[in-house]
Amino acid sequence: MTRETLRIGLFGYGCVGQGLHDVLNSSSGLRTDIVKICVKDRSKKRRIAMSNFTFDKNDILNDPSINLVVELIDDAEEAFNIVSTAMKNGKNVVTANKVMVARHFRELVDMQDKYRVSLLYEASAGASIPIIRNLEEYYDNELLHSLRGILNGTTNYILTKMHNEGLDFSTALRQAQEKGFAESDPTLDIDGWDAKYKLCIITGHAYGLFLDPAEVFHYGIRSISTFDIRYAKEKGLKIKLVPYVGKTDENTITSFVLPRFISPDKYLYNVDDEYNGVITEAAFADKQFFSGKGAGGHATGSAVLSDISANSYGYKYEYKKYQQGTVSNHTRDLFLEIYLRYRKEKDRKMFGFKEVSEYFSSKFYKYVIGTVNLETLYSLRDQLPAMDVFIVKTGRKVMKARH
Ligand code: HSE
Repeated sequence: MTRETLRIGLFGYGCVGQGLHDVLNSSSGLRTDIVKICVKDRSKKRRIAMSNFTFDKNDILNDPSINLVVELIDDAEEAFNIVSTAMKNGKNVVTANKVMVARHFRELVDMQDKYRVSLLYEASAGASIPIIRNLEEYYDNELLHSLRGILNGTTNYILTKMHNEGLDFSTALRQAQEKGFAESDPTLDIDGWDAKYKLCIITGHAYGLFLDPAEVFHYGIRSISTFDIRYAKEKGLKIKLVPYVGKTDENTITSFVLPRFISPDKYLYNVDDEYNGVITEAAFADKQFFSGKGAGGHATGSAVLSDISANSYGYKYEYKKYQQGTVSNHTRDLFLEIYLRYRKEKDRKMFGFKEVSEYFSSKFYKYVIGTVNLETLYSLRDQLPAMDVFIVKTGRKVMKARH
């Protein structure tokens, strides 16, 4: 296949944009030319000559010589404007913007068809781990039972530092910000939004369902306490933030994002710091484990580079699972076993625990381990931030949903 010379219009020159620039400068095999870089902030000092930059997006979008737009800004709605205009103008696009892809997934898939262009976004989920391309190409006909993992580098970094070094939450978060792992608004990381958006993107390729992120329950690590870390350590466990998607029957899946206890015999136990890990369970391939850096300019830049390279060969996602259309439903009606650390009995009661297996109460802390319905957790989603509680999925199997 002939390789097209790419004339790139780049949007954004932050952590990932600069990372990509470094990565492109050191990769000799690719014929690319960054024609212009569009940025917002006129006053920021840049590390390359100002003649490379523009502040007007139309300089890129209306330049017919530019055949690839690389979008790396963090304003999701502006990114959507840029990406959709670029596609309408017949340009292929590479993006790392998970918020934009997850929120506009279906529209973006349709636009690729309509305007006969390609949109690639490997960097949007798991950064350097090539999970989307694997789901598209390797698992295209596999019966995938489930996919779970660690998809947020910032929270994994925080949890690692709290567990291994006894750092407090805010110091660990500050370090993650300094290292360029966290989003500009770290709420996206610590409250589990980022992991959920990534899970929704992965679900599109794993099962062909373009979920509305609002339908997926997510919970983060903002309210973790030293008691929770100590509890996990005493049991020889670690706490990780784990998004999950899996089949509940032939044509139905469930998905959620929850902190989870991980024992040392599990793949995810040693996925520390900003690393991400993804475990797939499939009928024939059985269990597979992918791991790699999940955040940071160069790790994310490497995935963007891979998409740019794929683009030069004319690669497009085919959304094979969507074309097959075997999965059509998403359910939240299932029971999970959770650890709930809480203070007030009235809060505990709201969870509607069934089958409690452990209960502890002291002057300062209480916890309970038992099964709850995911639908109940979802119905509490707006109240949870105000409650003095922390939830961790135990990871033990609960047999069948009971009503
Ligand atoms: N803030 C994200 C993370 C960046 O920590 O994983 C990579 O998507």
